[in-house]
Amino acid sequence: MDDSRAVEGFTILAIETSCDETAAAIIRDGRVIIANVVSSQMALHERYGGVVPEMASRQHILHIAPVIEEAVAALPGGFEEIHAVATTYGPGLAGALLSGINAAKAVAWARGLPLIGVNHLEGHIYSNWLIPEKPEERRAREARGEPPPVHEPPQFPLICLIVSGGHTSLVLLRGHGDYQLLGQTRDDAVGEAFDKTARLLGLGYPGGPAIERIADGGQRGRLQLPRAWLKDSYDFSFSGVKTAVLHQVEARKSHIGSGKEERARPLVELDPQFTAQLAAAFQESVVDVLATKTAEAARAFGAREVLLAGGVAANQALRKRLSQVVEVPVRYPPLWLCTDNAAMIGAAAYYRYEAGLKGWDLTAVPNLRLA
Ligand code: KG4
Ligand code: ZN
Repeated sequence: MDDSRAVEGFTILAIETSCDETAAAIIRDGRVIIANVVSSQMALHERYGGVVPEMASRQHILHIAPVIEEAVAALPGGFEEIHAVATTYGPGLAGALLSGINAAKAVAWARGLPLIGVNHLEGHIYSNWLIPEKPEERRAREARGEPPPVHEPPQFPLICLIVSGGHTSLVLLRGHGDYQLLGQTRDDAVGEAFDKTARLLGLGYPGGPAIERIADGGQRGRLQLPRAWLKDSYDFSFSGVKTAVLHQVEARKSHIGSGKEERARPLVELDPQFTAQLAAAFQESVVDVLATKTAEAARAFGAREVLLAGGVAANQALRKRLSQVVEVPVRYPPLWLCTDNAAMIGAAAYYRYEAGLKGWDLTAVPNLRLA
């Protein structure tokens, strides 16, 4: 393998198309966000209550070229300024991943640049290395002649809790690229549990933000839902609490309905107070288990920091609870870096490049594992 030390100002074009966001970013020195373009398909998939894989692939193919062009336009020298191209190659939807991989290969081949494949989960973890300054904020600051914000990179060893629509993993990092998977979900991912529960309650998609919003109106402690502790393991399980919500909804329906009238009653007619209490109880149960196990892992492995990553890291109740129970600093990215984006892929790619991890034998690996 040739020498892979990144030169100063090393600039990566990163691409992310593993699910329902078509994204491209320009990342400098692994931490500075020069461009961050995200074209979301959320509105399209919303009416189906989840991501439709074939539609996602088609949308990626339609949007990937303009999204890349918009990102590269942030560089005065355009493609000339790029040192490497990175793309997510798994886990994710096969067709969706392929659109990003093909686009990355095309650019890298045409420009004679190295190609770096990134695990989507690794990307979520490395969102915590990015200096959380939007490109327009950075330009405005530079125009004022002010220095960049101080943002120390995370300190190893650390524990990262990855919580997204497809994953729930507790990971120990001893150094860059040195991952140990401590535990993961045995059934639903936590975001998936939020989405399915929101559906049961007649709330919209994506379910996480909908549940969080409505849970604020539900009085805490009025309703208790079960917690799956799975003793002596860092694994998680969320299907039980979701089923408990279903039972509560069904019991309520048969309680409020009578005779024939009951069958015609849609879920959305659950009274708002009850729905809010159920949403609050669900969120409390999930947050309790996630935060408790993360705090235990941090203690057991002497972590200097705890990182939160993935779409569910946007949840304020989870952030608050973690900072209460974890004894070391808890770090999480700003909201706009929690959900899928290509900036995080560029950050992870930088450290992979430095470790000599690049090459052309890149293909979509839908069930790619982290460790
Ligand atoms: O990381 P992400 O954007 O996509 C995946 O790679 O899965 O995560 C999306 C997931 C969805 O399940 C969504 O419901 C959840 O993150 N989510 C939230 C919140 N915002 C997004 N879950 C709980 N609370 C939130 N505020
Ligand atoms: Zn994600």
